Amino acid sequence: AQRWEVDQTLASFVLTTEQLYQVRDRMRRELENGLRLETHTTASVKMLPTYVYNTPSGREHGNYLALDLGGTNFRVLVVKIRSGRRRSVRMYNKIYAIPLEIMQGTGEELFDHIVQCISDFLDYMGMKNTRLPLGFTFSFPCRQTGIDKGILVCWTKGFKATDCEGNNVVEMLRDAIKRKNEFDLDIVALVNDTVGTMMTCAYEDPRCEIGLIVGTGSNMCYMEEMRNIETAEGDEGRMCINTEWGGFGENRELDDVRTQFDREVDQGSLNVGKQIFEKMTSGMYLGEIVRQILIDLTRRGLLFRGHITERLKTPGIFETKFLSQIESDRLALLQVRSILQHLGLDSTCDDSIIVKEVCGTVSRRAAQLCGSGMAAIVEKIRENRGLDRLEITVGVDGTLYKLHPHFSSILKETVRQLAPKCDVSFILSEDGSGKGAALITAVARSICDRA
Ligand code: BG6
Ligand code: GLC
Repeated sequence: AQRWEVDQTLASFVLTTEQLYQVRDRMRRELENGLRLETHTTASVKMLPTYVYNTPSGREHGNYLALDLGGTNFRVLVVKIRSGRRRSVRMYNKIYAIPLEIMQGTGEELFDHIVQCISDFLDYMGMKNTRLPLGFTFSFPCRQTGIDKGILVCWTKGFKATDCEGNNVVEMLRDAIKRKNEFDLDIVALVNDTVGTMMTCAYEDPRCEIGLIVGTGSNMCYMEEMRNIETAEGDEGRMCINTEWGGFGENRELDDVRTQFDREVDQGSLNVGKQIFEKMTSGMYLGEIVRQILIDLTRRGLLFRGHITERLKTPGIFETKFLSQIESDRLALLQVRSILQHLGLDSTCDDSIIVKEVCGTVSRRAAQLCGSGMAAIVEKIRENRGLDRLEITVGVDGTLYKLHPHFSSILKETVRQLAPKCDVSFILSEDGSGKGAALITAVARSICDRA
């Protein structure tokens, strides 16, 4: 009977093939809505123009500073790009912490902190007096009107600094640099991490025209035809669109797929009612879904001898890396138990079997949902180009995708099933998105120089 009850609970996370097709088709509809003038303000998938018109040519060169803000780590980097026969990219970087009180303090404090980190890094590199062009990877939805201008639409993930939403992020950084009055920088490009990742990977593989992040958050960008983008001037060529697919579901498109546990996770989040797809597919939230299920099973006496500890009531205890460890096939159950022990959860052998199943069910659904979204995109690109078959590469980054033992294979399997006319390859972005930001900066600056 106990087994049956656990299975019943987990059954609400199992998606039928029919449901996956529905998710794909609804995603497709929102992608179209986000590109159209009449519907783009109400679409749940924002489809933001990025003003990146091409993937790298290989002719980019020069020295750049890059910032990478919004993932697990905040990094400051110097990127040195050489073109020609000895084409190469060298990077020097340092990781800085962003304390919680700064992530959720005032905008001024946040940007002063960023500039303080840049200052420290320039000292460390001995480069305080070289005025470098800067590419700013800022992994949040920004409504851009040019490569170096963008208004923060809303914070996502763990950020909630005041007085930033509705403001130009580049201006906020410029103001903070002026306040510091120690060094000067040319802020040339504002870049989403998906776009940086696509560019990083496209530098190695010209077929890479999609960027995917499955990390703290979940998002995707791709090269769209200008003629389809009603929200930006021009009809010739292509532009990269930052889909912000994490917002999918805000128009209730996922109501029949969501469970009571998803709703609880949403209720406990910083942005209730927002980023519904992200909350079902990314590292910041999967552990929370697992925790909600474990609390429910425990309350019903099916787990941990019915004993809900303070530990289990603590948000955020199941980090992505624990899910990935628990689900590893190489791990014996005894080791799962010791991970749980480490988390302060005293488990029996049966408990550890159940916990592993819970993790597996939640992450499988996440990978399938991402796969359905990806299928919608590649099909759209194939139709855009009037092809019978599309061959395309996706550049991917993010700790969930990289650390999880099964996520990538389930995602790929789902794309194969739901987009049978597309051959989709996935490559990992090796050095983060800072390299891509520098490549974009290189192109943007050469255009300014010519103008
Ligand atoms: C990093 C990129 O490697 O991955 C970042 O450089 C990106 O730009 C990040 O935001 C996403 O993964 P996570 O798991 O750190 O959120
Ligand atoms: C969130 C952000 C998005 C970013 C993604 C991955 O969804 O809104 O801009 O790309 O996280 O970091």
